[in-house]
Amino acid sequence: MAIERTLSIIKPDGVKNNHVGEIIARFEKAGLKPVAIRRQQLSQAEAEGFYAVHKARPFFKDLVSFMISGPVVLMALEGENAVQKNRDLMGATDPKKADKGTIRADFAQSIDANTVHGSDSLENAKNEVAYFFRETEIHG
Ligand code: CMP
Repeated sequence: MAIERTLSIIKPDGVKNNHVGEIIARFEKAGLKPVAIRRQQLSQAEAEGFYAVHKARPFFKDLVSFMISGPVVLMALEGENAVQKNRDLMGATDPKKADKGTIRADFAQSIDANTVHGSDSLENAKNEVAYFFRETEIHG
């Protein structure tokens, strides 16, 4: 299986509720290594740019305001099959529908405050990692 990189964001609820360590531990135990990591307060422009694909969706405004409501933790995760593995660990977008034992089932409160973001394809992963990290900030 191919070694991939994917973007993970621990959203403001995950940071505020002190789940950063446990979430990263789950990634590491599953073979996903954080090869770049940064805690950051996103600006409105950064959040809008990151979620630009959802601009026309009714939830866009609430999503952006939630994402700038507090600091996030940005990570590039590297490992075998990283894109799908990260999505399996996260669980469904809506925490009510997330499988037992997934990050969102265990920690998330709502579809906006759903604790983590993960890239949904290898192509998006490349773009999303590059949106937040320069190559010189990534150390495998
Ligand atoms: P995320 O993986 O960060 O990608 C887009 C986010 O929009 C998603 O997680 C949710 O937090 C949020 N969102 C809010 N409402 C919806 C919805 N109806 N469908 C998909 N995503 C939604």
